Amino acid sequence: MQTKIRKGVIPAAGAGTRFLPATKVVPKELLPIVDKPTIQYIVEEAVASGIEQVILITARGKGAVEDHFGVSAELEEVLKRQKKGDLLRMVKELSQMVTMVAVRQEEPRGLGHAVLCAREAVGEEPFAVLLGDDLVDAEPPCLAQMVEVSRQKGGGVIALQRVPASETHLYGIIRGEQVSEGVYRITELVEKPAPDQAPSNLAIIGRYILPPEIFPILEKTPPGKGGEIQLTDALQTLARTMPLYGYEFAGDRYDAGDKFGSLQANIAFALKRPEMAERLKEFIKKVI
Ligand code: UTP
Repeated sequence: MQTKIRKGVIPAAGAGTRFLPATKVVPKELLPIVDKPTIQYIVEEAVASGIEQVILITARGKGAVEDHFGVSAELEEVLKRQKKGDLLRMVKELSQMVTMVAVRQEEPRGLGHAVLCAREAVGEEPFAVLLGDDLVDAEPPCLAQMVEVSRQKGGGVIALQRVPASETHLYGIIRGEQVSEGVYRITELVEKPAPDQAPSNLAIIGRYILPPEIFPILEKTPPGKGGEIQLTDALQTLARTMPLYGYEFAGDRYDAGDKFGSLQANIAFALKRPEMAERLKEFIKKVI
């Protein structure tokens, strides 16, 4: 798979039930981490990794996710009138960040189905998938690290992180053979196994580089765990016919679709802000 990875699919059509009631009206992808919505960090990672077009998978009631990256003439007018030049520049840059197309997933039928919705927009080229609620703090960005692995190994690449045995039931888990530092050739993937069924403690997180051959497989993948069409099940089929690598990326990952994960991300990202780090440390000392 030598072609440049130009397109990035961001599934953001899930119901976000783990973050209710916050997500009753506001999509979880728009909940802020410090002062930016989660999905903006993800789009920034995509752009910094060479992605030229984002394909947003969206759902009814989630139009605001797409609007966040569009032009807001009224807001620009207000900022101009109020002579808030820096904010005006920031808002304009946001709408010029990347070309974005939105595809509607009519029902939340699972991550595999969400990716399948991007089929026409992706076409016949390898592409990236970045989950709309999975934040990775890494330099170089997680997806850029994976693009490099894909360039060297020439196959699909999935981001991995080690998890404690008590958490395997929350993730897709791989069995693989290590082929170089942090890189595994995947032989098996299991969706959310109990600890005694897990083939390793290497968990799949929300970044993938996939060949277009995944689409016909997804089309034939029946609903799996939770009655949803699971991307992990389709990847298991793909791994039988094409090389698929797992990559233990360098960086920190936060599940921003989870209340605790979102809190962790807020604290970690705020501590990196010079204007608030010291105040935050003092506040934490005071409240614990
Ligand atoms: P999650 O399982 O974290 O999303 O899917 P969810 O279903 O919204 O979560 P909960 O359990 O109800 O809180 C990971 C990513 O895949 C997207 C989600 O928006 C999220 O970014 N997704 C999931 C879809 O786009 N469509 C789906 O049918 C399911």
